Amino acid sequence: MSLEKKESDRIYSLLDKVKDPEIGVSIIKLKMVDGVEMDGDTLKINIKLTVPGCPLSATIEKDVKGILKPEGYNNVELEFGYMTKEELDNVKKSIRGNNQKLPAPIERYDKKQIKNIIAVYSAKGGVGKSSVVAMLAIAATKLGYKTGILDCDISGPSIQTIFNEKYRATLDKNDRLSPLLHNKIKMMSVEMLTDAEALIWRGPLVSSAIKQMYSDTDWGDLDILFLDLPPGTSDGPLTVFQAIPVDKILLVTTPQNLSQVVGRKTVLMSEILKVPILGIIENMSYIRCDHCGEKTDMPGASEKLLKKFPILARLGFKKEIGLDIEKGIDADTFNELNGAINATVHKD
Ligand SMILES: Nc1ncnc2c1ncn2[C@@H]1O[C@H](COP(=O)(O)OP(=O)(O)OP(=O)(O)O)[C@@H](O)[C@H]1O
Ligand SMILES: [Mg+2]
Repeated sequence: MSLEKKESDRIYSLLDKVKDPEIGVSIIKLKMVDGVEMDGDTLKINIKLTVPGCPLSATIEKDVKGILKPEGYNNVELEFGYMTKEELDNVKKSIRGNNQKLPAPIERYDKKQIKNIIAVYSAKGGVGKSSVVAMLAIAATKLGYKTGILDCDISGPSIQTIFNEKYRATLDKNDRLSPLLHNKIKMMSVEMLTDAEALIWRGPLVSSAIKQMYSDTDWGDLDILFLDLPPGTSDGPLTVFQAIPVDKILLVTTPQNLSQVVGRKTVLMSEILKVPILGIIENMSYIRCDHCGEKTDMPGASEKLLKKFPILARLGFKKEIGLDIEKGIDADTFNELNGAINATVHKD
């Protein structure tokens, strides 16, 4: 049974509060709601997912029911379909055409002092993002770039551990946070902030911690700031893309995880947020024998997936990486990192 316009308008305005968990934009603005109707005492809602079989449909269902229940809709059923390519393209266009729907980048920190802000990202956890950020920063410093790392992983920060440091940030006389300086690389991580352990990090706190570390750290002049992102497409990465003027994204993957890393959600997020993905760093791509030096490639996904983004570097599996990252960078690795940095950094 179709609903009266007044009631359906009310339901649509309630649903406007539900955000796509990965893109962070309202499901109404993403045109994902494809009709609401009553069937007896059940409210039926058709949702069109941006990606077929989206694993987060359960989260959307929970959020929709959570918004509607207090308003008296106790029986709500969701039916999921997915958008055609044309519908998806229209959504992208309409979102791009109206920047007001996305939070404005923060202006507090003068972007001009940081020439390149590069987010190192992967929707998949444990593929080596933090290690790759550390290796890129070491290589960039060797190449003469003034380099910094912002650890944007609030619930699982790891940059200090990778560099075997136990630093506590202090505030200078201008209330700026002094970053850790390790072999000329400036670093900031939530682990460096006193009392951070005592806090339970919830969504809004995660966002404000990232913004504060970005804007309050005394980075000075930098050629490159690498952002080590948490995995997934939740609050953390979204805040980074929405609040920090990121110039480019590098994706990190292992050969086996390629399909998840270059998945449509990642691509959609980059298109909507207007941050280009430059290419992929394939980590743990091969193993070299300690004795004979023979190189064995790890089995990977089909080359078909690579049509969209180039592989900018292939890094081998090196047991030293978990122990002493500097020792993990041999001549091969340095050359690969050099290539990726050259392809990424804007030099003016
Ligand atoms: N090329 C490599 N060779 C050997 N070990 C590696 C390599 N890259 C990463 N590792 C190891 O893999 C593990 C995961 O790496 P890392 O923490 O960098 O991944 P991540 O993607 O940042 O993880 P998370 O998603 O939890 O942030 C670590 O133990 C690290 O030492
Ligand atoms: Mg990490």
